[in-house]
Amino acid sequence: MRILGIESSCDETGIAIYDTEKGLVANALFSQIALHAPYGGVVPEVASRDHLKKIIPLTHQALDEAGITLQDIHGIAYTAGPGLIGALFVGASFAKSLAFSLNIPSIAVHHMEAHLLAPFLEEKKPCYPFLALLVSGGHTMLILAHGFGRYECLGETMDDAAGEAFDKTAKMLGLPYPGGPHLSRLTSFPKQTHYTFPRPMTDRTGLDFSFSGLKTFALNTWKKSTQDEQAKIDIAHAFQEAVVDTFIIKIRRALQLTKVKHLLISGGVSANTALREKLGQLAQSQNLELFFPSLPFCTDNGAMVAYLGSEYLSRGIEDDHLKIEVHARWPLSEVKII
Ligand code: KG4
Ligand code: ZN
Repeated sequence: MRILGIESSCDETGIAIYDTEKGLVANALFSQIALHAPYGGVVPEVASRDHLKKIIPLTHQALDEAGITLQDIHGIAYTAGPGLIGALFVGASFAKSLAFSLNIPSIAVHHMEAHLLAPFLEEKKPCYPFLALLVSGGHTMLILAHGFGRYECLGETMDDAAGEAFDKTAKMLGLPYPGGPHLSRLTSFPKQTHYTFPRPMTDRTGLDFSFSGLKTFALNTWKKSTQDEQAKIDIAHAFQEAVVDTFIIKIRRALQLTKVKHLLISGGVSANTALREKLGQLAQSQNLELFFPSLPFCTDNGAMVAYLGSEYLSRGIEDDHLKIEVHARWPLSEVKII
């Protein structure tokens, strides 16, 4: 079975084809970063209009890459939320019209479930049950995945998501949008002043997170600093160390609670080198199996959508053909439980 996957929830148009026998056979992506950069963040209307422009050429590109035609596609999966409503509508209406015209099934998928299962695109596939740290621009969650479609949220952020905190802190330091990778890149330069930032919510029990205070702490530190390039580097180090350390503390707790031996990270922030390294060390010291997506599948892409779609469609779960429904907000707990 070959599934076309369509991602258009934010500022990336992703079109991919997943073959249940051969794996990923095409992965086309257009990032709108340069379009939004002058505004310092995503402009929803600009995003929708560009998805509309790119969605058909990228579909042709993916079909060419796979060496197939539309007639060789057996189903279409698309991100139905959470995300920017206009951007989601572009992907959903394209996906549903195409599926209708080809008389094949379509399936609406949850963006965060797609991120969660992105490591299944790798050769070394995760095994259930696993503990997942799902960290993106809009979400921060610790999930105990019992099996496909059976996800238990153990903790989440009370305010800013990790990626959002990275982006806001980076913006405050005058770094370009999206700030996460730029801030992270600054940490490749040595620090001169060592700042200690708080590890939010680690002094109390529980597995929830809070990152908005960290951003304020960074702002106050910046105001009192020399406000030059070195100060940016020093703050980037302190901020990243605090975020990564907070994750490690909470993951240790969650591992103790759940006793699982498989750990997974995914979502845009899972591209962060320091986080990957620290998790690698934790996995080694606790004898855990660690799973994460390769870099192109950390941030938004169509491959994770196509893969997730294949999981649903191969179980016979599909959309009602004539209804187009997208959700700007959509709790992961509402995904279909099997
Ligand atoms: O998963 P994603 O592409 O989109 C959402 O679903 O939100 O995640 C994007 C987020 C952004 O906040 C971006 O700054 C962050 O992931 N990000 C990073 C890194 N690469 C991407 N944050 C820290 N370090 C990175 N290397
Ligand atoms: Zn995402």
